[in-house]
Amino acid sequence: MLIVRSARVALLTLAAAMPVAARAQPQSGPQTGIVFRNTITGEAMDTAEGKPGGRDTQAVKTFFQTGKNLYIDDKSCLRNGESLFLTSCSGCHGHLGEGKVGPGLNDDYWTYPANTTDVGLFSTLWGGANGMMGPHNEDLNPDEMLQVIAWIRHLYTGPVKDAEWLTDEQKKTYKPFKEGETFAKDVPGQCKPLD
Ligand code: HEC
Repeated sequence: MLIVRSARVALLTLAAAMPVAARAQPQSGPQTGIVFRNTITGEAMDTAEGKPGGRDTQAVKTFFQTGKNLYIDDKSCLRNGESLFLTSCSGCHGHLGEGKVGPGLNDDYWTYPANTTDVGLFSTLWGGANGMMGPHNEDLNPDEMLQVIAWIRHLYTGPVKDAEWLTDEQKKTYKPFKEGETFAKDVPGQCKPLD
């Protein structure tokens, strides 16, 4: 009797758990292994929402699975990231990310320490933070966000040893952006010029 009852409980538990697992799958876009959480509330966010497009690139697929941003230090993506940053972010953060009404993004002080990782930074761009830092998932799709992140990491002037977004190989040659540095339209790399 006791065995039958516990078997029934186990079955019920299984049945209850199944629809939840099914619902956890994103409706569209790449499968995501990483759960992106709102920087302020900690709530899980749905990357299927927001600006369409930019979800089927190798970089986005890799990032959603592993949290690794393939665009870091790729000049073709830095070129695009600079342009997107100047349109969407520099008005508040300064054109070198030096800070204006929004905090500096080019030093090693972060209000939200999670932003030292690209998953944390993506989450802040996607869902926003406090006050004037609104969500940016309506003006940037995930692929464009990875390009902006690559650009922010290229503005970084803090100690290279703390740059956990760089591989050991990248750390050896890392140099922050210098005014006057430009990227040719046809510079080779993973990112096509923006429309
Ligand atoms: C309208 C002004 C405004 C715009 C536009 C804006 N930000 Fe912000 N941002 C802020 C403010 C103000 C804060 C501080 C919010 C807080 O502390 O919660 C902030 C905070 C941040 C932080 C957290 C920094 C830390 O120290 O942890 C990041 C990262 C960031 N912004 C990136 C961006 C990027 C990238 C863009 C463009 C896609 C952008 N912001 C656009 C005003 C803005």
